[in-house]
Amino acid sequence: MPSRLRSAQWYAGSDRNAYIHRAWMRRGLPRDAFSGRPHIAIANTASDLTPCNAHLDEVARSVRDGVHEAGGIPLNLPVISLGETQVRPTAMLWRNMAAMAIEEMLRANPIDGVVLLGGCDKTIPALLMAAASVGLPAVVVPGGPMLTGSFRGRPLGCGTDVWRLSEEVRAGTMTEQEFTGSESSMIRSRGHCNTMGTASTMGLLAEALGMVVPGLAGTPAPDSRLLEGAHTTGKLAVELVHEQRTPATVITAASFRNAIVTLAATGGSTNAVVHLLALAGRLGVGLNLDDFDRIGAEVPLLVDLLPSGRFLMDDFHRAGGLRAVLREVRDLLDTTAITVNGKRLVDGLDEAPIWDHEVIRTRQAPLRHDAGIAILRGNLAPGGAIIKPAAATPALMTHRGRAVVFDSIEDLHARIDDPDLRVDADSVLVLRGCGPKGYPGMPEVANMPLPRKLLEQGVRDMVRVCDGRMSGTAYGTVVLHVAPEAAAGGPLALVRDGDLIHLDVPGRTLTLEVDAAELAARTPAEAAVSAYATPRRGWERLYVDHVMQADTGADLDFLVGASGSEVSRESH
Ligand code: FES
Ligand code: MG
Repeated sequence: MPSRLRSAQWYAGSDRNAYIHRAWMRRGLPRDAFSGRPHIAIANTASDLTPCNAHLDEVARSVRDGVHEAGGIPLNLPVISLGETQVRPTAMLWRNMAAMAIEEMLRANPIDGVVLLGGCDKTIPALLMAAASVGLPAVVVPGGPMLTGSFRGRPLGCGTDVWRLSEEVRAGTMTEQEFTGSESSMIRSRGHCNTMGTASTMGLLAEALGMVVPGLAGTPAPDSRLLEGAHTTGKLAVELVHEQRTPATVITAASFRNAIVTLAATGGSTNAVVHLLALAGRLGVGLNLDDFDRIGAEVPLLVDLLPSGRFLMDDFHRAGGLRAVLREVRDLLDTTAITVNGKRLVDGLDEAPIWDHEVIRTRQAPLRHDAGIAILRGNLAPGGAIIKPAAATPALMTHRGRAVVFDSIEDLHARIDDPDLRVDADSVLVLRGCGPKGYPGMPEVANMPLPRKLLEQGVRDMVRVCDGRMSGTAYGTVVLHVAPEAAAGGPLALVRDGDLIHLDVPGRTLTLEVDAAELAARTPAEAAVSAYATPRRGWERLYVDHVMQADTGADLDFLVGASGSEVSRESH
């Protein structure tokens, strides 16, 4: 066996340890499995409790065939999976845990490369972070979006239409019976959310970063071409090992630029900001919050998908998908970036036309000229906050209003529909205690429900400010990821009902209009402080003690960087 294969450290030779490593794996593997054939783990997030990824076992079978065909040894490696809709208090609390556990298992096992199977929101970020910190050759197969379901003749966007329909119920324009009637139509097939939410976004960004076989991301989960792409990926994984093409050789600063351009042009999820920052931290690439504004501000919005537009991922794929978008924004891309196939990301873009100009616009006729995520700063967010103008109301981009403050999500739920709540359409809703430490885990609650009495008056959007995140499928004039969060000493903890807050998106500021002397004299609101999480033990304790703020990706401080794949000591 050529000694350059990492797995040879386990399997080569005739000593007792090599005997043990081989003997237990001979349960089905032939003798020649241990003499120079790359061992490829298939890190598989399939789980019945992650409905969006439940089909990945079938995808894994196609990967397996491809690995075999190329002479490698495929090894199924079930890894921690995160079902965005199922786990509490929020899947984000477990992203770093999944990344850490996957990293350790990739390192601890006798493998030479890995195929990463993900889909639902946090799964692809966790897999990429893990692979980056281990540094073994790796490639992603995004599980793909589901097909479009429809209700009463109208297509349903996962997530987005849940928010919309539930607000209709609260506004009294839809009955509860009609609302629950749409439930069985929402999730039409295998696959992840079909809007341009976080899962769709992260699948596309994994490809823009170079980590997916070009043209595969965005393929709907039930589409036969997903299995073909999985097969191709399995073969490629073996080649990656021979070439030693690791995540760090593929994902460079140039790749992050391309990912940010893609995020803006597709109108992708705000959650991508924390995931890309965390991944950059693992790779030692100097990416910061302002890069999203600097690079994204000049990028036009070309994709008309929910939550900010009209269509769904099935339409996007039919219209030409990511490659067609990249072709339109080619001049904004860094052409030096490569992909897992060793070629440049921009190679072959001439053969990627737009097939439906309603779904994907040309550069000459964009949906918006400036699509990127705006980074706001000011005395209310010294570390920065973000807003997605494409999902917000243009008239609220510059707004001054009086704060209506909620100290926790429970406080919000208890009071938001109170007829006596002192709130009007110009108020600014503030929700704190929802950052990484405070909740813990930085949940998707920033798109607060609007007060019922205002909904009944026809109000459909208000300025909202929060230290949490919002679902990539949500919309509204929401300032989120406020850093530092209230629980980490951020000024958000000092806001009082009635304070004036000034949002100026064109000027990129978020200001609490309270004079500095008064602000300095205030102490954090007691009701807020008493709602912060104080976990005693376990992962939550580790997380709260070590999680960093949103502006650097909310990774754990001791997980930043990489440890490589070296394991120096024997197990027996
Ligand atoms: Fe899994 Fe939306 S819940 S992608
Ligand atoms: Mg989500």
